[in-house]
Amino acid sequence: MQEFSLEAIGKMFLGTELNVMQGSDDGNTMIDLTIRMFQMGYLLLTTPPSKLESSPDFLELIDCQRTLLEISKKYFSLAAENEKQYGTLKGTILGKIIGRHGLDSPIPLLMATDALVGGIETTGNTATILLYHLASNPAQQEVLHKEIQELVGPSGHMTEQALEEMKYLKACQQESQRLLPVLEATARKTQVNMVLGGYEIPSGTHVIRHGLLVSTSKKFFKQADQFLPERWIRGCPEYQKVDPFANLPFGHGPRACIGQRFARLELQLLAWRIVSRYRLEYSGPAVAVNYTGIGAADRDVNIKFIPR
Ligand code: HEM
Repeated sequence: MQEFSLEAIGKMFLGTELNVMQGSDDGNTMIDLTIRMFQMGYLLLTTPPSKLESSPDFLELIDCQRTLLEISKKYFSLAAENEKQYGTLKGTILGKIIGRHGLDSPIPLLMATDALVGGIETTGNTATILLYHLASNPAQQEVLHKEIQELVGPSGHMTEQALEEMKYLKACQQESQRLLPVLEATARKTQVNMVLGGYEIPSGTHVIRHGLLVSTSKKFFKQADQFLPERWIRGCPEYQKVDPFANLPFGHGPRACIGQRFARLELQLLAWRIVSRYRLEYSGPAVAVNYTGIGAADRDVNIKFIPR
């Protein structure tokens, strides 16, 4: 799933095929280093700033980032070269960023690096969890299959309009991220004095919003521990008017995830393709998420793919 996510973001962002799913060495290195980098980042969250620079974890993190930047530079140059010869950046995000800032600005390369690194484990691990939820909830999987049959057909091609109408597909993706999000929290440094939950918080304080606690809380969701995509669909008896801040898997505001539209598209297309062709079965123990970096399934998720 991580290979799929890196390949997809490379194609959408850089207009370039990275051949990760064909086992490219650079792709594998990027995936391994990104996992390690987020693990180091997670460990360092609680390291006092004065101890940071001498910490071996910090040095390893910088090393990971350096190598990731080098690999990304290589594909960035390839994308720029392909653009000259074949115009491959037309319609890509990178094409737009270069159009705005110029090739000599550091912004396009850094944005491309952020996109490649930000789009591997997040979407890959979320995709694994989505397939797990579908495989372990056969009734919901069948409703999704029926929607696919009705709107796209067994061997049909997805269109923008069909995707627009696929309410159950989108609800499955949203519900899966509510139950097992790969990022449990987001952080901010406050810029004004404020009162939060009865506590006075001075300006300049680091605060953490623990999204997982909220999105799985009975206070905000009925049958909070159940995979119930219907809760997101108006007209279904299970539909619930939900507090808009109760489920924010991509964060919120000016620093919200820049890749959320890509990620949703990848997840929805993946689930559509797979469920239209296979019935998924999962009979192992319940999967939870381990948060020791970007959250990941706490075990191998062995899903049976039965051709339909
Ligand atoms: C299911 C997949 C994904 C999830 C769950 C996710 C989640 C998040 C979250 C929670 C944040 C922090 C938001 C905040 O603090 O308010 C974030 C930031 C970010 N994400 Fe994603 N993300 C996903 C996919 C992607 C993809 C595909 C990209 C590639 C374009 C990406 C690039 C980024 C970047 C660059 C930031 C930093 C934005 C900033 O600090 O201004 N993410 N993401």
